[in-house]
Amino acid sequence: MIIHKMKKVNGEIAVPGDKSISHRAVMLGALADGTTRIRGFLRGADCLSTIDCFRKMGIKIEEDGDCVTVHGRGLHGLRPPKETLYTGNSGTTTRLLCGILAGQPFDTVITGDESICKRPMGRVTKPLALMGADIENEYCPLIIHGTKLNGIEYSMTVASAQVKTALILAGLYADGETVINEIERSRDHTELMLKAMGAGIETDGLTIRVKKTDSLRAQSITVPGDISSAAFFMVLGTIMPNSEITIKNVGINPTRTGIIDAMTAMGADITIFNERTEGGEPAADITVRTARLHGTEIGGAIIPRLIDELPVIAAAAVFAEGSTVIKDAQELKVKETNRIRAVVDEFKKAGVDITETEDGMIINGGKPIHGADFAAYGDHRMAMSLAILAQLAEGESTLDNAACVDVSYPGFFDDFYGLEN
Ligand code: S3P
Repeated sequence: MIIHKMKKVNGEIAVPGDKSISHRAVMLGALADGTTRIRGFLRGADCLSTIDCFRKMGIKIEEDGDCVTVHGRGLHGLRPPKETLYTGNSGTTTRLLCGILAGQPFDTVITGDESICKRPMGRVTKPLALMGADIENEYCPLIIHGTKLNGIEYSMTVASAQVKTALILAGLYADGETVINEIERSRDHTELMLKAMGAGIETDGLTIRVKKTDSLRAQSITVPGDISSAAFFMVLGTIMPNSEITIKNVGINPTRTGIIDAMTAMGADITIFNERTEGGEPAADITVRTARLHGTEIGGAIIPRLIDELPVIAAAAVFAEGSTVIKDAQELKVKETNRIRAVVDEFKKAGVDITETEDGMIINGGKPIHGADFAAYGDHRMAMSLAILAQLAEGESTLDNAACVDVSYPGFFDDFYGLEN
C-alpha cells in the first residue's frame, strides 16, 4: 500500500471499543450466571478469536454489530471443546484462557498463529503450576490438563496484566485465597469487572486478593473507545500542521493513560473533557491540537501504562526537538513482534536518528526524514505507527500487509484518511 500523505487533519472521530475490556467482557460473561450484554465491543480479529474459543466450549454468543450478547453458563458451565482452541494473533486470549482452563474438569489444547507460537507462555504456565496447574509446554501449542487448584501468594516477575489476570482467573477456582503482588501497576479491567460481578476480589496498592468464587452475576457492559487506538490520533493531531482532532468516548482508566502523560510532558496540547464513568470504567472526550514537541525520558512505573503506545510515541519523538529516551521497556521484545527491533529497523529506513538499547531506544528528533518501503511484521500497532511516521517524511512511502490493522482497528485507514482537510 502507498501511504497517502495528508497536509493537515481536522475533525471528530470515535475509535472502536477497548480491546482489553472486550476480551474480558466475553470471558467473564461466559463464566457468569445469566446474560451479559456488551455494547461497544471491538470487532477486531483478536476479540473475535476470544468469541470463537468460548463458542467451542458451549457458550452461546450472539453478535449484532458492536453489540454482543453472551449467554453465560456459570463458573462451572464450560464444556470440553471438541477441537483445539485457536487464538490467532491474540496474546490476551491465549494467556487469559490458560488461567480459566487450568482449573476445569477437562483437558484443552490452545494454539495460535506463527507470532503467538513464538511468544513466551512460561510466564503464565509457571506461576499457574505453583497453584497445581498441569500445562505442557512453554510455547503454543499448550496442552492443559484441567485439575484442582490451590491458592498461593505470588510475587510477579514481569509487569504484565495478562499474567496477573491469568492468575486472578485461576484464583476464582482455587481453594483458599490467591494473593498476587504486582511489580508495577498494570491495567485493572479484570479487577473492576469482577468486583461488579460480585467476585471475592480486593485490591490494596500493588496487592490483589482473590477468593474461590461460586458464582458471578451477569452484567450489562459498555466498552469505552480504546485509548491505545486513540493514541494514533493523539500523535497525528499533534505532529500535523494546523490540525485539531476530537476523539469521542475514550477510556481513561488511570492504568492506561500513560500516553496522555508522556505526550503532555513532550509539549502536546491535549484537552480532556466530558469525563464520566460507564460500567465502572472512566471515559471522556479528548481534543488534540498541533503542537511543537520536545524530547523526554520515558521509563519506570509509567511503562505498563503506555506499553502498547510506545511505537507511536517513538513516531512522535522523531518530530520532537532533542532526544527522547525510552527505557525499562524490555517487554516490547515479546509483543506481536520485537517492537524495539522493529521500530528501530523501520525508522532507520526513513533516516531517523535512532539507537536500539537493551530495554528501549534513543531517538534524536527534529531532523528531516524521507519516505521508505516499510514492513509492519504483521503487527497492527507497527503498521499504524508507520503510517503516521510517513506523514511528515519527504517523498513516498509504502507499507506491506496494511491489513494487519484489523487485529485491533478494522477500518483504521478509513478513519485516518477521513480526517484529511
Ligand atoms: C493486555 C496486556 C498487555 C498489552 C496487551 C493487552 C491485556 O500485555 O500489551 O496488548 O489485555 O491484559 P502484557 O500483559 O503482556 O503486558
